[in-house]
Amino acid sequence: MKGVILAGGLGSRLRPLTLVTNKHLLPVYDKPMIYYPIQCLLNAGIDEVIVVTGGEHAGDFLHLLKNGKQLGLRHLEYAYQEGEGGIAEALKLAEDFADGDKICVVLGDNIIEKNIKKAAGDFFTQRSGAKLLLKEVHDPERFGVVRFDGEGPGAPVVEILEKPEDPPSNCAVTGIYFYDSDVFEICKTLKPSKRGELEITDVNNEYLRRGDLTYEVLDGWWTDAGTFESLFHATKLVEQGGANLVDGQPRPMAPLFTAASE
Ligand code: DAU
Repeated sequence: MKGVILAGGLGSRLRPLTLVTNKHLLPVYDKPMIYYPIQCLLNAGIDEVIVVTGGEHAGDFLHLLKNGKQLGLRHLEYAYQEGEGGIAEALKLAEDFADGDKICVVLGDNIIEKNIKKAAGDFFTQRSGAKLLLKEVHDPERFGVVRFDGEGPGAPVVEILEKPEDPPSNCAVTGIYFYDSDVFEICKTLKPSKRGELEITDVNNEYLRRGDLTYEVLDGWWTDAGTFESLFHATKLVEQGGANLVDGQPRPMAPLFTAASE
């Protein structure tokens, strides 16, 4: 399975910080934001990764990540998204890289306390389709939200709504998705939403329509970091207990992950 990190978009909600660099290179406690999705993939045993980015500061990624070897990646490549046409538009740029393999997609501003090893293993043996990771939150209206057939989690999902005013549950769809190779054909059929974007929620609803969508509930905390409030919250969570823990511990990190050797 290969990894796709989506780190495009213009980061307008974090201006003026994002006038001088890309949102995903801003610090979350002691590391640039993009280190967290990279470590998340590495912890799941995924070391072939593409970073899709965009905007004026895309070159900064190369300065930081180089060819990824120093971070523990076996293969790192980049794609450039023109404009910010949505998560599913950015994902389209990973088609050649995926080359028919299953993929794990992580949004570049998503950070987790623990790891996705079990979910990745489960998806590896899933014959086809997609798998979502859900998390119960107190502010579901900020996210994609699932409607369950009955009391969830545990019950089947019947619909996913993007940022609903009146959320049908408090289960958010996190920005970590597993897909088979059909995802690229599905992306090509999408029409822009009211906010002018190709929505990842539409992709997930298509898998649901096909009866080929599974989900698991993520263990440990999860946050995004795309607003001042969530960036500050993410920093506090990481400072208090670390992120990307395996067996309750931070994994020994490749040299460039640690402040002392930089
Ligand atoms: O964080 C999880 C949520 O992410 C999901 O619950 C939602 O269903 C999903 O739509 C998304 O919601 P946001 O509105 O918070 O996504 P945002 O526009 O902040 O984009 C998240 C990341 O996706 C961003 O850090 C980089 C990447 N992205 C986004 C856009 C719009 C791209 O690579 N290209 C893009 O054009």
